[in-house]
Amino acid sequence: MGVKQGIIEAEGLVKQFGDVIAVDNISLSVGEGELYGLLGPNGSGKTTMIKVLTGQIRPTAGSATVLGINVKKDPVGVRERVGIIPEQETPPSFLTATEYLDFVGEVRYIPDVLKKADWWFDFLDFNDKRDVLCKDLSRGTRQKLMFTQAFIHRPALALIDEPLINFDPIMQRKVKDYLTGYVKHGNTIFISTHILEIAEEICSGFAILHKGKLLHTGTVAELKGRNEHLDEFFLSLVEKGPHG
Ligand SMILES: Nc1ncnc2c1ncn2[C@@H]1O[C@H](COP(=O)(O)OP(=O)(O)OP(=O)(O)O)[C@@H](O)[C@H]1O
Ligand SMILES: [Mg+2]
Repeated sequence: MGVKQGIIEAEGLVKQFGDVIAVDNISLSVGEGELYGLLGPNGSGKTTMIKVLTGQIRPTAGSATVLGINVKKDPVGVRERVGIIPEQETPPSFLTATEYLDFVGEVRYIPDVLKKADWWFDFLDFNDKRDVLCKDLSRGTRQKLMFTQAFIHRPALALIDEPLINFDPIMQRKVKDYLTGYVKHGNTIFISTHILEIAEEICSGFAILHKGKLLHTGTVAELKGRNEHLDEFFLSLVEKGPHG
């Protein structure tokens, strides 16, 4: 019973690294079926926020639940349930693409993982790279593999740090369509991105961080209703800064 909980609920999250407050008292809420964009300049705390929400690092203060799981109390539970594509992470260099997905299936108990992988090799057009060692894959192909591992178990929530940055325009189109289709089935996606046109095109809600602080949360529909563009809105807000 009680109030319907969001898929992500963050309350006063703080993450401090020495003197640097990377995430400074952030509260936000992401509802089911949203494709939510976390925006902000370099170093504003996006990656840190994603790491805290996925139980990869422990917050200095505050709390968060993800899919109803407390990230401080059960970080492993969170990591098991969600799909994650971390910033700059690549698959292990000494495995082939197929071996990597087989390994992912084993550690996450995904039935028929290689059958599922077939669909992904076709969909993301890298059938010819199945048996190539990850260290010999191009950056974009490695990203295809990271994409596959994040979605292969069809998680109710996926968190992706810059989903499209390594993809060519054809792949970007395909992945954008996949993401928007994915949330239509009631799943939720949380992305960080610098590419504001993409956020404007595919996101429902968004948050803007600046120097660890939350400057704004809103929806793309609201902006469109005011005839505003996300890039101009973003720039004017960030230029004013956290205290402006
Ligand atoms: N492990 C760490 N140790 C010390 N400082 C860190 C660590 N991780 C992040 N920071 C600092 O925290 C701040 C936020 O970094 P973060 O990587 O979250 O930013 P970001 O918004 O993802 O940036 P970008 O857009 O460049 O990816 C930066 O000042 C960064 O230097
Ligand atoms: Mg980052």
